[in-house]
Amino acid sequence: MFKRLLGNRSKNAEKSVGVNSEQNLMEQLDLSKLPVHVAIIMDGNGRWAVRMGKPRSFGHRTGVKALRQVVELCVELKIRHLTVYAFSTENWKRPREEINVLMDLLVEYLYKEIDELCANNVKINPIGILSELPEKAREAVYAARERSRDNTGLVFNVALNYGGRAELVQAIREIAEKINGNQLRVEDIDGGVLAAHLYTAGQPDPDLLIRPSGDYRLSNFLLWQLAYTEFWMTDTMWPDFGKRDLLKAFLDFQSRERRFGGLIRN
Ligand code: FPP
Repeated sequence: MFKRLLGNRSKNAEKSVGVNSEQNLMEQLDLSKLPVHVAIIMDGNGRWAVRMGKPRSFGHRTGVKALRQVVELCVELKIRHLTVYAFSTENWKRPREEINVLMDLLVEYLYKEIDELCANNVKINPIGILSELPEKAREAVYAARERSRDNTGLVFNVALNYGGRAELVQAIREIAEKINGNQLRVEDIDGGVLAAHLYTAGQPDPDLLIRPSGDYRLSNFLLWQLAYTEFWMTDTMWPDFGKRDLLKAFLDFQSRERRFGGLIRN
């Protein structure tokens, strides 16, 4: 089972070391105001590795460790939805060796972690054009989805061969086909209908988007779903990202005033 932090909340309060210790940050957290859906662009693996004089693959491998930390804490805090950007529709432009490393890591991660993820009631929900993934990756992804389909805890969306524009195009095509087949009328199309044709259908939009590694862009991630999402950026590279960073993001999120285009009532 994943390490438990919450059980020790008050017992360990006095043992906190420094304002940024995991325990201290945890103590400050308001558990009733956590984001329901957290989205993360896991960026910076390559630069992190190059800075250390290592191959980019080392950055990706270390990035998997960071992902593990994040999933653990999301389970611990009972976050309902986590969406991570693991491979974009544009990532095929990378050298073949790097693509192979990423696919191998995905397969390794899913086969190694599936038991523990299931033991923690995590439901793996791959999103993207999965049919275009290499066979081994596709099989691992389908197997993980099938194994975890009845789990009722964290919904873990793993974006693979995912692009926000491709997702919208696919949704519009499906809607158009329904209109052609007289299953839907043009005047019935609204935001709800569109959202119901996205990979994230039935899930709430992300409350918080985290992007590490100092870049400030969306990179074709969840273009529709991020309309009113709070963004949290950090210079920390993804391989260095850990539970403390996630807790800092949550604390900052809790200080935000979300208006969704309206006004705050006094
Ligand atoms: C961006 O860093 C990261 C990726 C393209 C891949 C993210 C993948 C992982 C963290 C590991 C595999 C995923 C799973 C689900 C097991 P970058 O390479 O673009 O970094 P750079 O901007 O520094 O070059």
